[in-house]
Amino acid sequence: MEQAFLEAYRAMGTTGKNPNVGCILVKNNFIIGRARTSPGGRPHAEENLISLMTETELKDSSLFITLEPCAHKGINGTSCAELISKSGIKEVFISNYDPDLRTSGQGLEILRKSKINIYPDFLTNKGIDFNIGYLTNCLSNRPFVTIKLAISLDGKIALNNKNSKWISNKLSRNFGHMIRAQSDGILTTTSTIIEDDSKLTCRLNGLEKYSPLKIIVDRGLKLNGDYSIFKNTKKENLIIYHCSNDKNKIKNYHKNIELVYFNNKKKFLELILNDLANRKIKNLLIESGTIFCSEMIKSNLVDQIVFFRSNKIIGNDGLPFINNLSLRKISDSKNMKVIDLKFFDDDIYELRRFN
Ligand SMILES: NC(=O)c1ccc[n+]([C@@H]2O[C@H](COP(=O)([O-])OP(=O)(O)OC[C@H]3O[C@@H](n4cnc5c(N)ncnc54)[C@H](OP(=O)(O)O)[C@@H]3O)[C@@H](O)[C@H]2O)c1
Repeated sequence: MEQAFLEAYRAMGTTGKNPNVGCILVKNNFIIGRARTSPGGRPHAEENLISLMTETELKDSSLFITLEPCAHKGINGTSCAELISKSGIKEVFISNYDPDLRTSGQGLEILRKSKINIYPDFLTNKGIDFNIGYLTNCLSNRPFVTIKLAISLDGKIALNNKNSKWISNKLSRNFGHMIRAQSDGILTTTSTIIEDDSKLTCRLNGLEKYSPLKIIVDRGLKLNGDYSIFKNTKKENLIIYHCSNDKNKIKNYHKNIELVYFNNKKKFLELILNDLANRKIKNLLIESGTIFCSEMIKSNLVDQIVFFRSNKIIGNDGLPFINNLSLRKISDSKNMKVIDLKFFDDDIYELRRFN
């Protein structure tokens, strides 16, 4: 199953509206096949695996899958659960149930009826880690939200004059681009576009095509400059969320983008996340400054933060990553547990999740 998780991990951010699933085929204690969901989401991992194997290899083998096989029919007119049940595979280990109502237990039922031995809940908790974007989308109607921040040794995200190029080193920045490729959407703000002229693309050789959907929160449609993000853009690649009623601004805004209007200012952030969930965004990355990070964290809409902590000391006049919280007791603080740590020369990659 650990190997199946690795396969799923390799497909992260590439499978469009579908979950990224990995599977492994084992026979006589050897791994004889491995596959993952194809780019774009089809064919599914199990379809890919079964199409690679011979009848003899499949007969009496054991299959490990990170998510319950689907019960709804694909382009070839059959579901993954049906494919498995006709394949000769004798037992199936599954890490997580699929909450998608088209499957949700029915995939297991198809396997059960065909007398295949099934072992659901196999390494479930680890599976939840790998499926977290998909599960959050299905169960909470919002994406799994990660903030990515380059911070100085003393916890600042920019100088007082708003300059933040480059707090972290090249290795950290490259890894940051990898995280972009693994995300389905990347969101920033008007202020950060104005300060940094961010392109929000993945600029790693060979992974450019996995750049996520770009999203800007521009409540008042203020972004009227010649920013890089608007160059060569297509309507399906860039969404602007706003709450402006100004018809002139709407008419004269940049073209080839999708403008989405929400009139409810109080629920604006939640509405954005709900809308992104409906577009099947599973993992959302936020790259913004102090004000927006603070708003998201205070509204409890952030699941985890990736810190790239550099070796630079910027001083107390730099911008913090979060504004004042005016706490009176330490016990009121928000706590984040460590999920992962890596060293990139003198930078430390620190992935932390809210408790
Ligand atoms: N080190 C890093 O990793 C990193 C990453 C990103 C940015 N930065 C730096 O951060 C600085 C910018 O930070 P900042 O604090 O000025 O800006 P910011 O946090 O990126 O964006 C602030 C803007 O977010 C919008 N906003 C605030 N509350 C909101 C809410 N409840 N709902 C929707 N939108 C809301 C407002 O824009 P409107 O009023 O126009 O709607 C506000 O002006 C720049 O210097 C940039 O270089 C650093």
